Amino acid sequence: MSKIVHFIIVIAAITVACNRKALPTITERRKDAPPPAKKIIDVKPDIEMGKTIFMNRCSRCHDLPKPEQYTSQRWEGILSYMIPRARLNDKQSVHVTAYLKANAAK
Ligand code: HEC
Repeated sequence: MSKIVHFIIVIAAITVACNRKALPTITERRKDAPPPAKKIIDVKPDIEMGKTIFMNRCSRCHDLPKPEQYTSQRWEGILSYMIPRARLNDKQSVHVTAYLKANAAK
């Protein structure tokens, strides 16, 4: 008798466990989530301010480069590793980038 009770309990336990693990049926496919929005920096590029920041912050480790030494495209690459070195915040970066691109080699 106790064997039968035991057997029933085991079967019941297995049934419950399996039901709980059952995967939900997918009835519709959702489109992939849109990519996260690009970080928007709410600041108007100010070339004069960019020049000041550039002169103060980019001369710490080396002579100040001349903006017209590089093209806009080269500046973009250079700034991607110099902005972190100069520890500029997002707004300062916008200004410095605007200043350098405005005066870059054509
Ligand atoms: C913490 C020090 C440091 C600061 C601050 C710094 N730089 Fe530099 N910079 C370097 C070093 C070191 C090099 C030499 C190249 C290298 O190691 O990448 C360099 C090289 C350069 C070069 C030459 C790159 C090349 O490819 O020929 C340019 C242009 C430049 N820096 C621009 C800037 C500008 C613009 C800023 C300000 C946003 C700045 N740097 C701030 C350390 C610094």
